[in-house]
Amino acid sequence: MAEPREPQKPQEHNVPMITLSDGNRIPQVGLGVLRIDDEGVTPVVENAIAVGYRHIDGAAGYNNEAGVGRALANTGYNTGDKRADIWVTTKLRDSEQGYDSARKAFDRQLGLLQLEYVDMYMLHWPTPFDWRSGETWKAFAEFRAEGRVKTLGVCNFLPEHLDRLHEETGEYPAINQIELHPTWQQREVVAYCKEHGIAIEAYSPMARGADLNAGDGTIERIAQAHHVSPAQAILRWHIENGTIIIPKSVHAQRQKENLDLFGFALTQEEHAAIDALDGPTRAGHDPLTFTYA
Ligand SMILES: NC(=O)c1ccc[n+]([C@@H]2O[C@H](COP(=O)([O-])OP(=O)(O)OC[C@H]3O[C@@H](n4cnc5c(N)ncnc54)[C@H](OP(=O)(O)O)[C@@H]3O)[C@@H](O)[C@H]2O)c1
Repeated sequence: MAEPREPQKPQEHNVPMITLSDGNRIPQVGLGVLRIDDEGVTPVVENAIAVGYRHIDGAAGYNNEAGVGRALANTGYNTGDKRADIWVTTKLRDSEQGYDSARKAFDRQLGLLQLEYVDMYMLHWPTPFDWRSGETWKAFAEFRAEGRVKTLGVCNFLPEHLDRLHEETGEYPAINQIELHPTWQQREVVAYCKEHGIAIEAYSPMARGADLNAGDGTIERIAQAHHVSPAQAILRWHIENGTIIIPKSVHAQRQKENLDLFGFALTQEEHAAIDALDGPTRAGHDPLTFTYA
């Protein structure tokens, strides 16, 4: 069993940067802000910045962009050198897909965030039953040309959706943000993305908490062996896979914990034991049928 270890101080985290196909670099760990109301999200993001997060994952659909914007303004991370030191993602509502509506929505979102640009703008769901990704992408490419978005991404795209987007626009997104955790590993989507230079970003990286006791105590046992929490064992597995992760927590202590992933490593056997937990246990929605209006 490994020696007990001291938690790292924020400045020692050294979160790795992942280089994307467009040349931009994204911190491998960010904070997710789904299901936090607009008022509540401001102190949550301020605290995350204080403990060392330099990557925030938001969306129009989370109805808290103004609150995220206040946190960035209050901490000075909305302008100048500090702005350059943080990665801010937001996403377009499915109901606002389409060229004209995306242009309007994006102006509104930047205003709420009090930012001149976002690091990444994403299509939130592919909505194949109401496909408008190709025409929406034209607006996205303009935002990038205007310098108001650095990286273009998608969420929840299956290979058939990535193929279709590529046929219509000649481009693949730099990132595909998908549900990915030990009991839902989506290996075919991951393999397709690797083959096409698309980085994988895992949402619900702990299955919203459900995977913390996955595998009949497997995660717990691995965590104990390293004197870390089950959350850290799972998040470390993602890090070792090269996946970008955006765990969500409103609690300061958990935020710290979820960033403290770089002072230990899983053994090959432990890593393989988490690989072996793969199963059909989706925690969220099916991209073939779901829309997040
Ligand atoms: N693109 C999409 O369609 C999509 C869909 C879903 C999510 N997302 C993004 O992904 C982010 C993360 O996903 P998620 O929020 O669904 O799930 P998650 O990060 O896997 O899990 C969050 C849950 O785990 C708890 N938790 C966090 N850290 C913990 C720790 N160290 N120990 C024990 N429990 C802990 C949190 O509770 P507390 O907050 O009470 O600590 C919360 O209930 C979202 O916030 C959002 O930004 C994107």
